[in-house]
Amino acid sequence: MTQNDARHWSGRFAEPMADRLRDYNASIGNDHRLALHDVRGSLAHSRMLVRQGILSAEDGQRIERGLQAIRAEIEQGAFAWSVEHEDVHFNIERRLTQDIGEAGKRLHTARSRNDQVATDLRLYTRDAIDGLVGQIDELQQSLVEQAQRHRATVMPGCTHLQPAQPVTFGHHLMAYVEMFERDRTRLIDCRVRVDVLPLGSAALAGTTFPIDRAQVAQELGFAAISRNSIDAVSDRDFALEFAFACSLAMVHLSRLSEEIVLWMSQGMRFIDLPDRFCTGSSIMPQKKNPDIAELARGKSARAIGHLMGLLALMKGQPLAYNKDNQECQSALFESHETLSSTLAVFAELMAGLTAQVQRMSDAAGAGHATATDLADHLVRLGVPFRGAHETVSAAVSDAVAAGVELGALSFIQVRAVVARVAGADIARRLDEASLRDVLSVQGSVAARHHTGGTAPEAVSREVARMQAALAQRRSQKLCMPTGSTP
Ligand code: ARG
Repeated sequence: MTQNDARHWSGRFAEPMADRLRDYNASIGNDHRLALHDVRGSLAHSRMLVRQGILSAEDGQRIERGLQAIRAEIEQGAFAWSVEHEDVHFNIERRLTQDIGEAGKRLHTARSRNDQVATDLRLYTRDAIDGLVGQIDELQQSLVEQAQRHRATVMPGCTHLQPAQPVTFGHHLMAYVEMFERDRTRLIDCRVRVDVLPLGSAALAGTTFPIDRAQVAQELGFAAISRNSIDAVSDRDFALEFAFACSLAMVHLSRLSEEIVLWMSQGMRFIDLPDRFCTGSSIMPQKKNPDIAELARGKSARAIGHLMGLLALMKGQPLAYNKDNQECQSALFESHETLSSTLAVFAELMAGLTAQVQRMSDAAGAGHATATDLADHLVRLGVPFRGAHETVSAAVSDAVAAGVELGALSFIQVRAVVARVAGADIARRLDEASLRDVLSVQGSVAARHHTGGTAPEAVSREVARMQAALAQRRSQKLCMPTGSTP
């Protein structure tokens, strides 16, 4: 079938499509992922055509039965996609016509592939968002459980990757819960703009048939219908927004990955990962590598690339539909699949991670990490903060000269430097027990018990708040009707 019918558009063309164009023009390799959404959209469209008297009830029934059979085949993975039929829409329509005859040819009344593909992509993106939101919940659950387990595990908190102030590991993990919470709400927010029905816009100008778009929107569960046919077939904003939400979530996963790699490095050895999440080396028998975290860090680059690709794809397109838009699909699908597969792995990986509590706490005080605590203490004794800063700098300098940590200076040594820089009055107000507590790592974290602080009790409060939110989401999900497909 070299000069086959599928490549004859109409009598308008004197010759079939060139062989070289066939593969270049086809999108079936990608858009077969839209198949179930395409069937769903077609069912809603044909039911509306019947209700509006545009299609006979008999034809409607034939189409209905034909599409249901095609859907079953797609679900079983048995549908034979052909590049001869260009894209998912033509593949399904031709097959329907083959199966049910003339009625199949009537399905495309009052519709164009332009509003059809826009509808399919929105249905796909909406489902993708719902799935990702659930996956983010799962990852947050793992993180929250680890955070509760490690609410009092101290570790170095860094700025510039240098020891800054001690923090709790639980607090550090909860920072990611916050990032993923924003990713989650960003997706939910994007969903509002995805949830608009373009069908009815036809090629670009609308249709001459008495369609009822509200019926179709209701059947497909769309919250709104598009208000401008030219915009509806041209617009891929929703895909760009979705790609941005995916790439930002991937950036957060990439930052977490980078930390996992660092924490697992021999210099740190703060964590260990279960063997089932690591890989070995083909030459070095001792190796245990955090490949999965590296891979996620690498995959985030692809997600970013897809977003850039989509922005570039849209920037030069005049209204209305242009075939450029077909290229948006692989970026959309891959952004979704990259984030989805990474979230799935990380939910389990984060649950399986073990903290080397002793290693972390040994490192927590290093680098004079409680210097700010001493400065704050002097402020409470009456020293202005700048003076306190200067006094503690001098104490750190003494400690560095003696080759010890600030916390290892004796009470006499600290009092001497305070007397020298801040004055004898302040030095007299120092007492040894408070000084020890102030300079200790546990004292340092415990003192930061305000909302948003690193203290174990503050972490526990945030964990409890998040656990309650996650439990509520789970119960809401249980109340929701199962599956969105009719
Ligand atoms: N496969 C096409 C796409 O994804 C369907 C729309 C084709 N429309 C057209 N006017 N050629 O964009």
